[in-house]
Amino acid sequence: MNVTVLVAGGAGFIGSAFVRLLARERPSWTVVVYDKLTYAGNLANLHEAEGAYAFVRGDITDASAVRATLRDYGVTAVVNFAAETHVDRSIMSGREFIETDVVGTYVVLTEARAAGVSRIVQVSTDEVYGSMPVRAAAEDAPLSPNSPYSASKAGGDLQALAAVRTYHLPVLITRGSNTYGPYQYPEKVIPLFITNLLQGKRVPLYGDGRHQRDWLYVDDHARGVLTVLERGEVGGVYNLGSTTEVTNLALTQMILRELGRGDEWVEYVADRPGHDRRYALDSSRAHALGWEPQMSLAEGLRSTIAWYRQRADWWQPLKSGAFEAYYQKQYGERAVPAAAAPGAE
Ligand code: NAD
Ligand code: TYD
Repeated sequence: MNVTVLVAGGAGFIGSAFVRLLARERPSWTVVVYDKLTYAGNLANLHEAEGAYAFVRGDITDASAVRATLRDYGVTAVVNFAAETHVDRSIMSGREFIETDVVGTYVVLTEARAAGVSRIVQVSTDEVYGSMPVRAAAEDAPLSPNSPYSASKAGGDLQALAAVRTYHLPVLITRGSNTYGPYQYPEKVIPLFITNLLQGKRVPLYGDGRHQRDWLYVDDHARGVLTVLERGEVGGVYNLGSTTEVTNLALTQMILRELGRGDEWVEYVADRPGHDRRYALDSSRAHALGWEPQMSLAEGLRSTIAWYRQRADWWQPLKSGAFEAYYQKQYGERAVPAAAAPGAE
């Protein structure tokens, strides 16, 4: 079968892992990366897939550019990773999240329908279910997003499901859990903490540090999306979780230990507003397609830390300039007196 896949957001963290996976394992496919190259997009992420993809710089909210790209390359499948993705940025300002994650998704769906694309995967997140105090969310759990980011992603999901029902558009949705690994922009907790420690800075842990996340290695996430693209049922939603739940404090201590640092490198800061306490997924539907995560958290963290140690050339430029201003604003506002930190006298 001739597959020409448009990977929207393919220059970002997970999208680029997906493109690298296709370069290794689906060499006969034609891959078109369509990306706006926002602060989070970086062609250096695609270096290992050099020569295996075509690149179009474009915005998913730009209907005529999406239309022309689908037509010019004769695209048969679309995987949409493109999104604004950072919860803290969405709390500062949500507008771009609505534009890209809702309107952009709508444009991708509409243009894919007009072009007669035969399969579309909308890449979404476990955050649309909101906080899960006890059990794990299955795909039929109610959507209950709490941040401007997750509310926007839920809006994109609902547009995708509406397009299935209204137009019989062949869309599938993946909802992955918190993802980590090489090439993750250093605003997210794992690369932020690793690179802070490598720079001799403390790590800002929100609130009491007891929030729980389910951590999925990026290559496992990419492989889950490919499995759903190839084997999922049209109209289906597939959770991609790893059942590796840890508190942020336990995760931080794993990173500290690996880098030979003690607990004094943790700085407790004020909590994120609306901070979801726990995410947990039931991924049995994806398991039934034959997908299972391969990487343990301990091993994944070790190799991720080794990667950031080696690739200061990649992350150091990203942590200067505009990032520094963002970080100062974000953490300046969060600073709390040491006496207010958990465990303080
Ligand atoms: P990222 O922020 O690293 O990359 C996003 C990419 O999208 C960048 O290359 C950016 O340039 C591009 N982009 C942003 N706006 C665009 C627009 N309007 N038009 C075209 N391109 C645009 O994101 P990521 O962490 O790789 O996440 C990819 C997808 O996976 C997102 O949809 C996200 O919601 C979802 N997801 C992420 C995680 C996670 O932990 N990172 C977990 C579950 C699901
Ligand atoms: P993050 O990587 O932003 O992912 P998400 O909010 O999408 O889950 O954050 C993961 C967890 O780490 C979340 O509970 C918030 C917490 N966190 C901190 O404690 N300190 C930080 O500086 C950041 C960025 C996150």
